[in-house]
Amino acid sequence: MDYEEPQFFRVMQYARRADRDVVDMVSGNPDWDPPEGIRDGLRDYAEADASQFQYAPSEGLGRLRERIAARRDVAVDRVVVTNGTGEANHLAMLGGLDHFPGDEVVLTDPVYPYYAGRANFLGATPTLVAVDDSGHLRPAAVREAASEETAVIVVNTPNNPTGAVYGADAMAEFAAIAEEYDALLVSDEVYDHFDYAGRFSSGLATGSPNVVATNGFSKSMAITGFRVGYAVFPPADGPTGELLERARTRHMLTNITTSRPAQYAVERALATTPPDYYARCRDRLATRVETLCSALDDVGADYNRPEGGFYVMARFPSFPGSFENVYELIDEGGVAGMPGEAFGSASAGAIRFALVTPRVETAAERLRRFFA
Ligand SMILES: Cc1ncc(COP(=O)(O)O)c(C=O)c1O
Repeated sequence: MDYEEPQFFRVMQYARRADRDVVDMVSGNPDWDPPEGIRDGLRDYAEADASQFQYAPSEGLGRLRERIAARRDVAVDRVVVTNGTGEANHLAMLGGLDHFPGDEVVLTDPVYPYYAGRANFLGATPTLVAVDDSGHLRPAAVREAASEETAVIVVNTPNNPTGAVYGADAMAEFAAIAEEYDALLVSDEVYDHFDYAGRFSSGLATGSPNVVATNGFSKSMAITGFRVGYAVFPPADGPTGELLERARTRHMLTNITTSRPAQYAVERALATTPPDYYARCRDRLATRVETLCSALDDVGADYNRPEGGFYVMARFPSFPGSFENVYELIDEGGVAGMPGEAFGSASAGAIRFALVTPRVETAAERLRRFFA
């Protein structure tokens, strides 16, 4: 698979041009409202003094960093606010490749394609480690794949696309492998609010100096267009302290800073959003998981029920999820998913469905009809 150019837009465009109504389950754009604090923050910002329309501090608005630090229970100086989790992942992976010996990045197969594309574009060698039948990356498999060449190990929990959630033991093992092989564990936790199993454990909880946790508000606050994320780096006075300073400099040289109105609104939402908002979003998705999985059961598809995140990967009998078949499902069935091969060889033949549409019931009915 060529990861240079993510394939999402190709399929979304095909679905949009289709001659019929299509339920779009291709990409991960939430379809629900953001917390009220987002709109309140934006409204207030419009009336703010012109001085607040100027550059924010490069590492992020102080109050936002304080709220993030409090939430993650870390010192505020470890937090760098970025242009989404995407930039946080970029800074973390680049920092790991720079700081640690070797040029190999260990990723999962299937993989969120942007990691693999980024590894290529940073001149690193991606090594894909296949997940087990339940969609989990086994620490033993990572240990087997790791070598002196390994500079970075990327884990995403809850996982896109497999739905796996890693508990504290697995995270501790991933961090221990990173320490053992003198590498960095990058823990992408952007789906942490969508943990149906109640098992999620942050990479930060390992206390390892070889861990950078990345996160953002795109999914948890339904604001993928805002571009606000963050990375929590190891303490500056520890053995990997230079990671933080280098990331801050790179962030400044590339972006100067992150959009100030977006940071302002996110800070307001963090201050005012009750836990109930996140619980409702999670419950809504859990219902959608049930709806889609029941249709998958009915048509004899093979899949793992997601423990977290909002994607389901399914294999249909006698209908491999190639691009061709995905296009046929769009044209003939009215449901658009993403071919599994876009995520790696382990998922070739599967189709990934994103549950961020209010029309999951329609999609479920259409799948039943198409595969009848
Ligand atoms: C695993 C993973 N990481 C990062 C991102 C990007 O997040 P952001 O919008 O915060 O950059 C996504 C978006 O789909 C994702 O699935």
